[in-house]
Amino acid sequence: MSKEGFDFFLYSPAPFLRCCSPDMKNDVSYFAKTTVLTIDPRSPEPAAIAAAADMLQSGGLVAFPTETVYGLGANALDEDAVGRIFAAKSRPLSDPLIVHISALEELPQVARNMPDAAWLLAEKFWPGPLTLVLDRHHSIARNVAATQSTVAVRMPRHEVARQLISCAGVPVAAPSANLFSRPSPTTAEHVVNDLKDRVDIILDAGPCEIGLESTVVDLTQSLPVLLRPGGITLEALRSVLPSLHIRETQVTDDTPFAGSASPGMLRKHYSPNAEFLLYSGSSEACINRMRDRACALLSEGKRVGIMAPNEDQACFDGIQVVIETIGSELELVQIGQALFAAMRRIDAQGVDVILARTVGNQEGLGLAIWDRLIRAADGKIVFQEETRQES
Ligand code: TXA
Ligand code: MG
Repeated sequence: MSKEGFDFFLYSPAPFLRCCSPDMKNDVSYFAKTTVLTIDPRSPEPAAIAAAADMLQSGGLVAFPTETVYGLGANALDEDAVGRIFAAKSRPLSDPLIVHISALEELPQVARNMPDAAWLLAEKFWPGPLTLVLDRHHSIARNVAATQSTVAVRMPRHEVARQLISCAGVPVAAPSANLFSRPSPTTAEHVVNDLKDRVDIILDAGPCEIGLESTVVDLTQSLPVLLRPGGITLEALRSVLPSLHIRETQVTDDTPFAGSASPGMLRKHYSPNAEFLLYSGSSEACINRMRDRACALLSEGKRVGIMAPNEDQACFDGIQVVIETIGSELELVQIGQALFAAMRRIDAQGVDVILARTVGNQEGLGLAIWDRLIRAADGKIVFQEETRQES
């Protein structure tokens, strides 16, 4: 891997070294010489954008920042290029990708039969962290959406993402730029850790603003359904679309969803390597239980990590645990930004078990935070104050 300033591209052609077959399946890896380009998040250097756009046009992979998390992009019209995304991430081919556009005029090239709700939501929330599931246009590569006739589309608001898509002149398929089932990357360093030598170019524009993935809404059903809570809240969406339903099995199902629901929304999805135990209830009750559990685990010789809001830190003084804080409990925006990075930091310290508690309630951004925590915990809450049961 090389780290270069964008000047590199003023003097040299874009490096493009790949060893992959055009019929690559996801049991084959994608190998590439990775170049990291630092880029200004507000005023991206044109040479870096042009080099990355060239790479997309030639079928390569570019990891780029969005306001939610970093994405791993390929030309959504090119089936071979899209295949490389699945190979690089080791992602099951049944898990469909989001297609990114830079302007509303590009939407008819990606989706068709747009219901009124799509225009309403797009006008209100795009560019931004909202993904709409619509009927797929035939020009989009078939492997973008597995065997489905639908396609998920979003228009990110990050300046680098928008300029990259616009300069490439094609819609860009991009899942989060992490290895399958690892926490989503919120910095370029996270992308390097997971995908070094599996992506051609990484555009490094610093940390992502939101830190949680986009909200996914399915508009292909008789009633609109929220498939994944995210950067745009349920409350904000319902102010435009009062009929929006939330899928009841959203958090606890552990099988891929059928039909047009989200096949990628497996229960265990955003998981760190260590076992992740989640506590829910008042901070006092949770902290007491977590302390007891930590002491018990330590006495068994386990290495224990605690992922906690700042306010809890002092409560674990005197116990030999690794603590990673995620910001103030009163600032859900801060916690959203910090969550995945904290999971990665704590994992990197080689702990066997991570203890965490739910924060806030399931309103506003709290719903997305709750969703990511419970997925990290494989859908289980080991202590719920109401029932006072611990397993
Ligand atoms: O914020 C985000 O959405 C980021 C950035 C890079 O845009 N992308 C992201 O992509 O989180 P990914 O692949 O990690 O998550 C996409 C989710 C998956 O749960 C997938 O199953 C769902 O969207 N999805 C994609 N296409 C779909 C479709 N046609 N129908 C239903 N769900 C779909
Ligand atoms: Mg993902």
